[in-house]
Formats: sequence, structure tokens, C-alpha cells
Amino acid sequence: MQIEISQKPRSEISADLEIVCVIAKDFDHHWIEDRDLLESAGFEGAQDETCLLPEKKRLYVGSDSLHHDDIRSAFAAALRAARKTKAEHLKTGLYLGKCSAQNIKAMTEGMVFGDYDYDEYKTEKSKHPVKRVTISIEDFNSKSIDADKASGYVESSVTVARATNYVRNLVNTPPDDMTPEMLALKAVSLAEENGLDCIVLDEKGIEAENMGAFLAVSRASDHPPRLVHLSYRPQNPLYKIALVGKGLTYDSGGLSLKPAEYMVTMKSDKAGACAVLGIIKAVSELKLPIEVHGIVGATENMIGGNAYKPDDVLRAKNGKTIEIRNTDAEGRLVLADCLCYAQEKVEPDYLLDFATLTGACVVALGEYTTGLMGHDRALKHSFSKAASNAGELTGTLPFNRYLKKLIKSDIADVCNISSTRYGGALTAALFLDHFIEKEYKHKWLHLDIAGPAYVEKAWGYNQAGASGAGVRMTIKWFEQIIKQNLKDKNS
Ligand code: BES
Ligand code: ZN
Ligand code: ZN
Repeated sequence: MQIEISQKPRSEISADLEIVCVIAKDFDHHWIEDRDLLESAGFEGAQDETCLLPEKKRLYVGSDSLHHDDIRSAFAAALRAARKTKAEHLKTGLYLGKCSAQNIKAMTEGMVFGDYDYDEYKTEKSKHPVKRVTISIEDFNSKSIDADKASGYVESSVTVARATNYVRNLVNTPPDDMTPEMLALKAVSLAEENGLDCIVLDEKGIEAENMGAFLAVSRASDHPPRLVHLSYRPQNPLYKIALVGKGLTYDSGGLSLKPAEYMVTMKSDKAGACAVLGIIKAVSELKLPIEVHGIVGATENMIGGNAYKPDDVLRAKNGKTIEIRNTDAEGRLVLADCLCYAQEKVEPDYLLDFATLTGACVVALGEYTTGLMGHDRALKHSFSKAASNAGELTGTLPFNRYLKKLIKSDIADVCNISSTRYGGALTAALFLDHFIEKEYKHKWLHLDIAGPAYVEKAWGYNQAGASGAGVRMTIKWFEQIIKQNLKDKNS
């Protein structure tokens, strides 16, 4: 599906179908030409409600406001409805709000997401009749905008939305097809296609890096682990950023085996790693002036005679010892070693990790919200602002001095689970904190995406399954810090 901006008014663009938004149920607006027909069809203009008038070649959709979140959702609903028709070429106008760029991006993303389905394993594939969308530069509230600028916004948001769909596909792929080796191969293909550097470590390489925690988790699997280090290095970068991703291609819980009903969906435990790949894909296609490294720990957490056990003591890359009391708290073990690797090899200005780390985070914030944790208030604040501008939800969970004590161990430097059942998202993050060197404490941000990365029921413009959580907010934050950096330089 191609999306383009046209200088022509809507009436002069020929297309098979026009998308018209009804904003805040205002049927008096001069763009709503079919008031009576809509009324007799029972269309009320509620958010995401659609009404097709084939004889008029119009498809109406309701949006509660011109807020970018409502517009994104409405355009996704409109595209989904349009896919049920035979229309190949759609047209629409601009629905600009407070920030023109944001709304153009929301319209574009909505349509790319509305066109998404995961049908890889269905014999009968879903239909994608819409080949082209022309957006007239004509605005609903007669705001004017430069056509070249508008085209630029369309182009960059298509790139980000496609990178999000790329993550969805990776995460949705079943565990026997997306093994650690396969995930590493996907990273290698991405590197080849986008001109990135890519290092892949196998079991021996991981051992040579003294990653005893990561290795222990992987031991009982028939699929060997992989550490992937992808990097995008433009000339004269403004920042150097390391992204670390949890890549559990399957989490059975290990010997602390998950109950059957909690095990289903655990193919999604690689979503952090997949988000990292998607972010690097987008950054390199957008050619952002920052150096970005993606470090992914890919493995399965399985059972077997050689499985790591509760009572084991492991030694991580930084030399710290870890008492294991639950093998299902495995993500933090893989991340511990990967975080050490990232600090040692990359020496980044910012260090972000993405992980479906805890069920507790989902309990705390609900399924749709990413848990943001870290030591630096300004960093958390700037990231959450970027997330909300990008249409993703975050909630900041606060550390405190008492929580730290809950992961003390009698026989090792730290224990992999907390001694209480409360605040599990925070105690997991504080476990990771043991592997963050002093100079990186204020450069580190931990994102627990256990909720939004994979939701079994469709929500808003997201289909059931993987959502690609993390991509849009991180790209937005990158754009924000780049802009701020250039501003500081010029003042
Ligand atoms: N991968 C899970 C966390 C998870 C749960 C992600 C639900 C997505 C949805 C993680 O490895 C895990 O099992 N965590 C345990 C930790 C506990 C043993 C301290 C959990 O959250 O129950
Ligand atoms: Zn687990
Ligand atoms: Zn896990």
C-alpha cells in the first residue's frame, strides 16, 4: 500500500472511495455531504464507527476529536472497513490538529496498522485490496501546510509503522519457527538489507564473554543460544545509544515450570529483542544522526536433565554471583549479562533495555501500558512524553530504598527473586540495577513491555497478538533528543 500527498483539492482527485471523518459528531461541517443518508443508515459518528455509502463512493468514520490518538484509531478503522470493499485507490483530506506533523503521522500510521493482519499460518490469506491512498493537502479546518513537509511526514511515519509491523511479525511467529538461531538470522538479514554491522555469538562465544547467567538459562534447550550485536553507525553521530532486548523465544518457566494456562503466549517473551531489531531498522531507514547498538540475548528457557535449578548460584559477566530461587525469573539473568556486555563494548550515552520481564508489571499498569523505570527523573520524563506523543502508553514506577533489600541473598551477591510477592516489576528492575555500573546509573532506562507487547484480544488499532510495542516511542524519543541537541548547539 502506497500513501501519497497531493496538492489537488479532494474533489479533483479520482479514486474508488473517499474516507471522510466525522469529528466530534459534528454533522454540520461542510465536508459532511450525506447527512440524511448517514442518519437513515443509523450512523452516529462514534469513535471508530464506520458507514459505507457505495453509491456515493464514500466511507465515513467517526472520531471523537482531532487528537492524534483518535485520528490514528479512526483511520485504522476506516482502512479495515475499506478492505471489505473492492476499492483499490482511496482518497482523503487532512485532519490536522494542534500539531500538524503529529496528525499526518497518526493518519498514516492508522492506515498502515489498519492494513495489518498476521496470516502467515492461515491457508486462506486475508485480503489487501487497497493499493494506494492519496491524501489531499486540503485540511478539514482549512489549515495550510507545505506539501513537501507533509510528504516527509507521511514517508517517515510509513517507515516507523512498517518497522512496527515487522516486529509484530517476528513476535507472532511460533516458537519452533522462531528459535534463537532464527532470530539471529533475522538480525543478519536486516544488517545485510540496511547496511548495518552485525556480530553473532554462539554458545562458545557467550561462554568466552563469561556470561554465566545467560548460559545457565539456555542450557536445557535443544536450540542453542545466540547473542546478537547489531550496530548502525552514521558519520558524526550526536549520541551513542545501546538498546538491550530480552529474546526468550520461549519461556516455559524452566524447572519452576509455568502452569499450562500461563505458558500459552510465551512465544511473546522475545518481544523486547524484536523491538530492538525494529527500532534499529527504523533508525537506519530514517538515517537518524545517532549511533545505535542493539544487543539481544536470544534463548529458550526449558526443562531437562541439564536444566539450571532453584538453589544454583550463577556468576554473571561482571563477576557478581546470583542465587537462583525461581527459574522462571530468567529474563533478568539474560539481561544482566547483556547489560554488562553493552556497557563494556559500547560505552553508550544512553542505555535502554526492553523486556517482557514481569507479570507484576501487567498487574500494576494493566495490559496496555509499558512500565518505565530508572534512576533519572528527567530521562524518565522525557521518554514518557515522547511515548505519549507517539501514541504509546507508559507508566513510571518509582524505586525506593526498602525494595532494594528484598532481593538480598544469604549465600550470593543477589537473589533472582524478591522475598515478598509485591512490587515485582520494581524488584526485577532493581535486580538489573546490580549490573549497571556507577557511571551508567543515570543513563539507564528499563522498559517492561510485558503488558502491551502481546495482548490476546484486539485493542484500538492493534490486532490480537503482538503490537510492536516500543518502536514508535523510542523513535519519537530519539527525534526529541536530536532536536534538543541541535537547539542547544545553536543557542
Ligand atoms: N516472561 C515472564 C513475564 C511475563 C508474564 C511476560 C506475563 C508477559 C506476560 C517472566 O520471565 C516471568 O516468568 N516472570 C515471573 C517472575 C517471578 C517468578 C518472580 C512472573 O512475572 O511471574
Ligand atoms: Zn519466566
Ligand atoms: Zn520470561
